[in-house]
Amino acid sequence: MTSLTRLSCVSCGAAFPATEPRTECGACGSLVEVLHDLASFGRSGEEWRALFDSRRSALPGAATPAFQRSGVWRYRELVFPDLPEGEIVSKPEGNTNLYPGRELGRRLGLSRLFVKHEGENPTLSFKDRGMTVGVSWARHLGMRDVACASTGDTSAALASYAAEVPGMRGIVLLPEEKITGEQLSQALHHGALTLGLDTDFDGCMRIVADLARTRPVYLLNSKNPVRIEGQKTIAWEAIHDLGWEVPDWFVVPVGNAGNVSAIGKGLREWLELGIVGKKPRLAGIQAEAADPFYQSYATGFARRVTRVAGETAASAIRIGAPVSHPKAEREVKLFDGVVGRVTEAELLDAAALANRHGLAICPNSAVALAGAAKLRREGVIRPDDLVVVVATAHALKFSGSANRYHAGGAAFSNPPRSLPATLEAVVGALEAG
Ligand code: F0G
Repeated sequence: MTSLTRLSCVSCGAAFPATEPRTECGACGSLVEVLHDLASFGRSGEEWRALFDSRRSALPGAATPAFQRSGVWRYRELVFPDLPEGEIVSKPEGNTNLYPGRELGRRLGLSRLFVKHEGENPTLSFKDRGMTVGVSWARHLGMRDVACASTGDTSAALASYAAEVPGMRGIVLLPEEKITGEQLSQALHHGALTLGLDTDFDGCMRIVADLARTRPVYLLNSKNPVRIEGQKTIAWEAIHDLGWEVPDWFVVPVGNAGNVSAIGKGLREWLELGIVGKKPRLAGIQAEAADPFYQSYATGFARRVTRVAGETAASAIRIGAPVSHPKAEREVKLFDGVVGRVTEAELLDAAALANRHGLAICPNSAVALAGAAKLRREGVIRPDDLVVVVATAHALKFSGSANRYHAGGAAFSNPPRSLPATLEAVVGALEAG
């Protein structure tokens, strides 16, 4: 099979075969990206759209290979053309709902709000979109050990996808006591070698990167550009959901900065292929306690700021030194982007408000929602802009912060009431409101 794919350094442009299990440049040590020769397919934008429409309208039944029902592999020629279809490890993933904001949007002043709920993926976060590609490619390369550092969602996805491949071992390095119990249980249940380290995410990331440099271990953090190829389908699927209408904004929470890079890369590719003709704007949002990308943006990207990330309910984005900063900076600049940050009260209230309207989004997703509302208040987002907020994980992975919030004292707290086991007490509670 002829190769359509290569790895390319984002700093010095050095090229490497995609079959090298590398996640950094062999010449200068910088990040690498996956480049496919997509123009070689010779299809027009209209032909691509027709192909994707036909796959979407004819979802095959459960007896067919799972990838044929995947919202990632629907776009397979543009995701990883070098991967033989028979080697794809898919659950399937993607095909998440794009919820219209309705009353929630009105409350936030966003008349055309949509929430792309990536928490509806098999392991309840967007990480599955990248992991289906990463684990498939690891298997193709014959890698037995796959590893990541994680704030809890990458590790869940890695463990779950690795569990599908006989002989593959998932290894996860977790900042001890800094991820939720639900997330930890996912890694344990799926049989990953689970290592809690007495450090933060950034410390785990440094160690796992060293591990991958010194041992035959395939790194599956988003530093691995193969993961990005799956995640870029979030933007594609949202545009497809909108009947090929490109929103004015994509708003995303930023931690290690892989996802905002993925969304930008996907949008660039569809613009180049003529699949879409309009350029949306990008907004990356952080929590104040973990805001290095925001601080870098505030210097006009003159400086790359890192910090020790503080405690936040958005624990999945508690990251002080985002590994994909250079890629994310490039995409923010290319898409006339902005970077914002929100307080703990803002993100917790946004989560409660969204979920009170029937969504089930996590505090990290709520960072993006609160950020969109703030950009609206500041006049950066206009009232009738079409806004897609990417909700990155499901509320149920973060029940601790929800239950603490609802215990009382916050804007939308809904505290549980404890009653004697009598009809009178229940009726009394109803009447009291
Ligand atoms: N939202 C959730 C729920 C996440 O788990 C993450 C990252 C992000 C947003 C940020 O994405 O890192 O690409 O900017 N979680 C990683 C993990 C770090 O280990 O699960 P990013």
